[in-house]
Amino acid sequence: MAKAPNTAPTRRGAAPRKILVLNGPNLNLLGTREPEIYGRETLRDIIQRLSKAATGQGARLEAFQSNQEGALIDRVHTAKKQEFAFIIVNPAGFTHSSVALRDALAAVSIPFIEVHLSNIHAREPFRQHSYFSDLAVGTICGLGSRGYDLALEYALAS
Ligand code: DQA
Repeated sequence: MAKAPNTAPTRRGAAPRKILVLNGPNLNLLGTREPEIYGRETLRDIIQRLSKAATGQGARLEAFQSNQEGALIDRVHTAKKQEFAFIIVNPAGFTHSSVALRDALAAVSIPFIEVHLSNIHAREPFRQHSYFSDLAVGTICGLGSRGYDLALEYALAS
């Protein structure tokens, strides 16, 4: 039997823009973790605010936090299959150590912004090198949780 012509809009055209917010180790402790450096907002507070902003603009935001390097890498791989358009990532401690997470982001070619709550350049020397910055569309650091909002604003506009 002849196949009917496919006149339905493509899924890509119809689907909301998908943005992944990826957070690395210890960020699940935001709110109580060294609040003088990382602030008093919880990760849940931040994600709720971002989700609301994304939904308001017709986009879909998904958040994933893990303390495990492999889980973060797996999430990046899956993001490619799920056609995520953009990633906002705070690799946390892995910023300064993880070639493997860097390689995962390079492998999927999803544009990403690197966010840090604190100004990593004004802290200990070991925090001043990032394995991610040269691959990132941009890096935001030192603006507290506002950095995530600004990254989202960019991701929604791009
Ligand atoms: C951080 C900075 C990193 O050096 C640190 O290991 C973190 C959080 C930030 O958001 O400021 O866990 O990425």
